[in-house]
This record gives sequence, structure tokens and C-alpha cells, in this order.
Amino acid sequence: MKERIVSGMRPTGKLHLGHYLGVIQNWVELQHKYESFFFVADWHALTTKYDKTENLKNDVIDVAIDWLASGIDPDISTIYVQSLIPEIAELNVYLGMVTPQNWVERDPTLKDMAKILRTKEGQNSQISYGLMGYPVLMSADIMMMNATHVPVGIDQVAHIEITRDIARRFNNIYKTDFFNEAKPLLNNCSLICGLDGNKMGKSFQNDIKISDTEEVTAKKIMTAITDRSRLRKTDLGHPDECEVAFKYWQIFGKEEQIEKVKCECEKGERGCADCKRQLGALINEKFKEIREKRRYYETHIDEVKDILNEGSKKARIEAQKVLNNIRRLVNMY
Ligand code: TRP
Ligand code: SF4
Repeated sequence: MKERIVSGMRPTGKLHLGHYLGVIQNWVELQHKYESFFFVADWHALTTKYDKTENLKNDVIDVAIDWLASGIDPDISTIYVQSLIPEIAELNVYLGMVTPQNWVERDPTLKDMAKILRTKEGQNSQISYGLMGYPVLMSADIMMMNATHVPVGIDQVAHIEITRDIARRFNNIYKTDFFNEAKPLLNNCSLICGLDGNKMGKSFQNDIKISDTEEVTAKKIMTAITDRSRLRKTDLGHPDECEVAFKYWQIFGKEEQIEKVKCECEKGERGCADCKRQLGALINEKFKEIREKRRYYETHIDEVKDILNEGSKKARIEAQKVLNNIRRLVNMY
């Protein structure tokens, strides 16, 4: 039997290159090796944005389009929407009962989220009961399909640790070995930073979207931070101190290209503006096909909705099997 992966993403709208390189690219490869379940975590979006749901439906579709365009294949992977699987909510109840409060309070990723929430202007500084339950709900997502592995970015590993703890505790309490202790699957790609050198993120306005046009991409790349000590083309450059542009070269360039950029930069034979123009062209080339596919799905939204509905039906069948077992183990009526 093939091992099974489950992973999800919150519907934050159109995805950026950080999502692509950090997560989606990995999924695209893994779907050939594992039985794969990928879902849009719309309930998780509510943990912080319960009061801003006007774009939620569109955001779900946008995420799905980015996945499909990037090569997640609905014929081999099951793609679904979390909130279309009510079984997850029921499992969340059982898991919530066995999870000690201090396990969620200790979750470092949750602490970070809470901190960001508190510093955001206009946000009510209260942390909701739902947000505290974030890692439990995530455990329900993973255990609902009884996954063996969870491909995620490094920032999610703490959540997966809690999931493993909850699975073990459930198995102990109900004297079973039903739940797998799912292992995180990290990819080896280096994290891409934003154009300003900070973490790439939608809310920091330092991102390049998968869906950006070539013109927008080229324009954004020109704002990427370079070697700050360099003023003229003939100044000797330091690629290692070129905070963003050279890092992007290292991610997207071929070995020879990177070597050439490095040499020319160090010798003062390459201007930063030119360098970034070339970099923009390289990135546009890399995403050309994906963006074409994206434009196809943008004009065939009904096809996207069908894929999500069909996938959700399939995921639900799996979920019901697991839930039957859980109800029996917990001795529910
Ligand atoms: N918390 C994840 C993120 O923000 C999304 C997510 C929700 C998830 N449930 C999951 C990821 C289950 C993996 C498995 O990216
Ligand atoms: Fe960076 Fe290129 Fe400028 Fe060198 S020439 S500092 S690598 S942008």
C-alpha cells in the first residue's frame, strides 16, 4: 500500500514564490510517490480572519488555481476544501478532549501568530478559542486521512509535533494503534526571502506572485535589495552581501549563470540594474508555462469548482471510514 500524505494551505489569496518554492513544488513531486490529499484550509483562515470573510470564497478558488497551474494533478491527487468535510469538525471535537491545554499554549508557531495579531493595528487583541485550537484542528486535518507523512514548510513543524503527540495520546487512551504518527516531510529548497530581504509575505508587500504578469515581475525585481555598498557599475561588488538579488540568482539560475554573475559582479563588470533585468527575465521564463496554465483556469472557473467538489466528495468518503472507527473506539452512541 502506498503511504499517504496530507497537506493544506490557508486561503490567503493569490500565492507567491515563497509558497511555490517552499511547498507547492514539493507537493508536485511527492504526488507521484504518495497517495496525496491537498486541501484549502478555509476554517484555519477563520482563526484570525473570522471578521473578514468577504473574499473567502474567491481566495479558496485562487489558491486552487495556483496549485493546478503549478502542476498538482487532480487525476492523481485529491484536492478538496476543508469546510466541505464536516467529519473534520467532529474529529476536532474528539481530539480537543484528549489534548492537554498546555500543549497548545506551548506551541511556538501559535505564539508567533498571537504576537502578530496583537501588534496589528485595529485588531482586537483577544486571542479566540478557535485560534488556540489551531494545532488541534490541524491534527484533525492530518488524522482525518490517517496520513503517514505531512509535507510542510519548516514553520509548520511544531504543529506536526503536536499532531504526533495527540495521535499517540489518543492511541494510548483508547488502547489502539489506529492513528499513525505522521512525520513531517521537509523539502531541501532554501527559503526565498522577500524583495526587501525580510520573510516573503503578502502583508509585507515584498512578494512576487505566481500570478503576476511578466511586466509586474520585471518591475518588482528592480526593487530587490543588492549589495548596499555598491554605487556604480565599476565598483567591485560582493555577491555574498547582495542581500536579495544574488540569492534569487542562486535559487533560479543554473550553475554556470550563477558563476558568471558572481565573477562579473566581483570584477565590477556588471551593473546591478542590468543584473536585475536579466534576473527578471529568468524568473519570467521559469514561470511562463505555469502562468499560461493559470490564465486557462482563470477563464474556466467552473472546471476549478468541479475539481474541488469532486475531490471533496472523494476525501469525504475516506473521512467517513476513519470517523466510523473513531466513534467506535471512543464508544459513542
Ligand atoms: N497551518 C498550515 C499553514 O498555515 C495550513 C494547514 C492547515 C495544514 N491544516 C494543515 C498544513 C494540515 C498541513 C497539514 O500553512
Ligand atoms: Fe547583486 Fe548583481 Fe548587483 Fe552583484 S551585480 S550586487 S549580484 S545585483
